[in-house]
Amino acid sequence: MSRRIFVPWAMPEIGKAMLMKSRAEIAFLHGPSGELPDVKEVMEGTRNADVLLSAAILPIPKEVVMANPNLWGIANFGVGYNNIDIVSATELGIPVTNTPGVLTETTADLAWALLMATARKIPQARDYTVSGQWKGPGGKSFMGLDIGPGGSNRPKVLGIIGFGNIGRAVMRRSRGFRMKVRAYDPPMKETIEKTKGVEYRELGDLLRESDFVTLHCPLTEETHHIIGEKELDLMKPTAILINTSRGPVVDEEALVSALKKGTIAGAGLDVYEREPHLSPGLAKLDNVVLLPHIGSATEDTRGQMAVVAVRNAVAMLKGKRPSNIVNPEVFESPEYLRKVKL
Ligand code: 8YV
Repeated sequence: MSRRIFVPWAMPEIGKAMLMKSRAEIAFLHGPSGELPDVKEVMEGTRNADVLLSAAILPIPKEVVMANPNLWGIANFGVGYNNIDIVSATELGIPVTNTPGVLTETTADLAWALLMATARKIPQARDYTVSGQWKGPGGKSFMGLDIGPGGSNRPKVLGIIGFGNIGRAVMRRSRGFRMKVRAYDPPMKETIEKTKGVEYRELGDLLRESDFVTLHCPLTEETHHIIGEKELDLMKPTAILINTSRGPVVDEEALVSALKKGTIAGAGLDVYEREPHLSPGLAKLDNVVLLPHIGSATEDTRGQMAVVAVRNAVAMLKGKRPSNIVNPEVFESPEYLRKVKL
């Protein structure tokens, strides 16, 4: 009997082609422009599948996971997997995989581009130019903030929250700008202390010292609203906050209010608390640069993410250990062993 992989989103062609070459039966489901199916449709498809190939943009709540306790695996397209109820999956002996590594440099590029665009008000200046408001001398000058040491030759301080692959790739980009780097990530404290040119800081000290604060932590119970009113109050009024990780790590309402009051100078956001919805007032601010969650969005990287996700899915379909397992304890569980010995 052929086994079935369920793909309820529009995956890149390279991944589709790989899936079609596998000996599995593949069920794709999405709207003509890539619209996501609703939770009931995802439950239905999951019930009839052996492996679910999900994406970070697609919620996989408890009811979807519970729809098929016999699932051999969930392969997620994305390094983040907070879209999946991992506790239920682990309880039911369902391995979950992600796609780390391949998107590190691309996401760090975007974080850096967003930092530069926010500091130098590039989108605002572009809109002014193309709309014909620029009438020559005496016009708006879009005074920005230095990223490098500037005319007075004072290096700026970059605060990195989350020193995993992406946080470290952002740190490498800062070297050409001669920045001082501070990092906060308690489980990575030793790594941070061993990294040349980077100093460990507790969160409050990092916020007080930094000219730029950039978030690169996963969304967990500990990191939910890691930046709220209290933390924003600690930041310099000239500082900029960049978020390319997950929206809910920042209390968006508190951020809007801080940006309105001038508690901080600006924010560059690629992710939001309730995507694709923006908190009231956010889009009207002129000290923000807002992007639609495009951190990993290059043809090459999204393609390679698809390749990794498909490899993981096919491995699990064969009862083999996949490369990027996020809940390895599953392989010891009686629930998993029962399924693969069937
Ligand atoms: C998404 C992401 O995968 O990898 C992640 O965690 O957030 C992104 O790369 C992408 O938006 C497609 O779902």
